[in-house]
This record gives sequence, structure tokens and C-alpha cells, in this order.
Amino acid sequence: MGWDFNELRQKVQEEAKGIQDIQGLEAFRIKYLGRKGLIQGIYASLATLPKEEKPAVGKRANDLRSLITREMEERKKAVESSLQSKKRKGDIDVSLPGVGQEFGRSHILTQVIDEICGTFENLGFIVHESPEIETEFYNFTALNIPIDHPSRDAFDTFYLEQKDCQNPDRNVLLRSHTSPGQIRIMETAKPPLAVVVPGKVYRPDAVDASHSFMFHQIEGLLVDKDVKFSHLKGLLSEFCRRFFSEDIKMRFRPHFFPFTEPSAEVDISCYICGGKGCSVCGRKGWLEILGCGMVHPKVFEAVNYPKGKYTGLAFGMGVERVAMLKYGIHDIRIFYENDIRFLKQF
Ligand code: PHE
Repeated sequence: MGWDFNELRQKVQEEAKGIQDIQGLEAFRIKYLGRKGLIQGIYASLATLPKEEKPAVGKRANDLRSLITREMEERKKAVESSLQSKKRKGDIDVSLPGVGQEFGRSHILTQVIDEICGTFENLGFIVHESPEIETEFYNFTALNIPIDHPSRDAFDTFYLEQKDCQNPDRNVLLRSHTSPGQIRIMETAKPPLAVVVPGKVYRPDAVDASHSFMFHQIEGLLVDKDVKFSHLKGLLSEFCRRFFSEDIKMRFRPHFFPFTEPSAEVDISCYICGGKGCSVCGRKGWLEILGCGMVHPKVFEAVNYPKGKYTGLAFGMGVERVAMLKYGIHDIRIFYENDIRFLKQF
């Protein structure tokens, strides 16, 4: 079979001109250079030619192949540059935002917990975590909370199983405060010790602007020989100065907790109104931030510390409360809604 190479050259050049895109380029390549393409066909037919014709036809086939390759390279450039100019002309809008990734950050409550713990760490405390699922023994009994205390009621604490009144100490519950952390630490460590225990606590409260069924506390415990109430006052005053401000005013109000004696609640002068009285502090000018006191001897007895050898101070602080005061947040529920517009402000 004879090949009209002039005609083939023309055909190749014309077809190459018509190539518009990458797909067209590939079809062209397959048609001419593919395994079953024209050039392979010509090479295969060489075997049937008379000996003397072979070199000339082979050479022309090679030239044709070079032409095809050159044409393809040129069209490839043309296709690419037309893509570029489409982008420039705006058919492809390169100014459209890409798929961006924003930097994350710690939740505001995590930040406040870290800051409170950090402040106590600077004062020589270590941070320790304690279980959220507790037994009635750790949450109540060891803390000298009497068996008939209302907080043991199923309306005031989340029990995880049917309450067994025969063996109350073994009942499993969600801790209602971080104070069981005191017991867990003293069971495993000997004084002197100074520890803070941050974490979640749970109470079946109706949810409103200042109550949630889950919130965070930070427990503090310092035990040594000769720890006095003045140490408690000094420590908490220093904490408030460092955490809130130098000129913060505080007051210790006598209170009752079964696991501390004497006990107090600590108020700070209202951050919002500066003590004049506003809606946040209920016109009192003071805001309660924590409960505290000197560790009750019955608590030392529960952890088998030698009688009369040690004294200690303890406190329990509400994290949401403190965060709301520091940042002027008026509704506790917003902490848990995962609304990025709120969270990204901190
Ligand atoms: N556990 C107490 C509460 O939740 C706070 C507290 C802790 C009081 C330690 C005194 C000492 O209200």
C-alpha cells in the first residue's frame, strides 16, 4: 500500500489547528501516535515493501512523526495560554475565596481554667485531676456530709444507678462538686501538699441565665503543719489581686460547709458597677465567687491522717462565675452553645 505523505502532512496540520482543549490533544495523539495509530500502521506496512523502497518510506514516516510531535507541542502551548487568558478575562474568577482554614483556639472556659490554675501554680500549687464519676463515699461521706443531708437526695445529685440505701457509700454518681478530689489526693499523698483540682461538676438544676446542670469548679487544698485561717485569707486575696486586679475589694462572709470549720464564702466587689450596685450583682455591689474554710478534722480522719498533726485550708471556685464576672458575660448558657461568633471574641 502506497502512502501519500504530502496529503498526510496537510491532513495532520489541518487537524492540529482544530484542537481546542486537552481532550482534543489526547484524541489527536492516540489517532496518530497511539499503538494502533497511523505511524505504527506505516511502520508495520514497511515489511511488505520491496527492499529498495524501505529506507525512503521509513524516512518519510519518521519525518511525519516529527511533524505530528511538533504540532502537538504547539497546540498544547496554545491550549494552555488560552486557559490563562480565560482566567484573566474573568471566565474563571480567581478572586473567589478559596477553601480557607481558620486558626482554632481554646474555649473561653478552658482559657479561664488555665489562667486560674496557672496563677495557683505560680503560688506553688500543682494541678491534679480527679474522676467525674464518683461514689457517694467520696462525694459525701468522707467529706463529713451527714447521711440525711438534702444534697444526697436524688433530686439534687445525678445518681447513675438505682440508689442502694443499705450500702450508700458504694452508690455511683456524677460528682456534684470537686471536693471529692480532696479525699482522693489525701488518700495517696502525705503533707505538705498544695493542689488545685479543675473539672466538671453536675447538679440537676433547672437551666437558666445563672444555672446549668453541668459547670466547672476549681478545688484548692493545702495541708501542712500549722496552716492557719490567715494563710487562707492571704492566699485568696493574692489570687484575686493577680487574677482580677490590684485594687479588687474582697470580703469573707461566715458560712457553713460540713467539710470545713470555720467556713466562709468570698465575695468580690462587683466588677461591672465597681460596688455601687447594678443588675449583675443584684444591687448589692458584691459578687460571690467561692466557698472556703479550714479542713474539718473529720475529713482528716476519713483519710487516716494522724489525729491533730496537720491543719489545712480548702476552697472551691466556680469557673463560669469567675469568667462571667471578668468578661461581663450575663448568661451562663452561651458558654455551651458553641456559637463561633461568641467564642471567637476571646
Ligand atoms: N464544695 C463546695 C461547693 O461546691 C465549695 C467548697 C470547697 C467549700 C472547699 C469549702 C471548701 O459549694
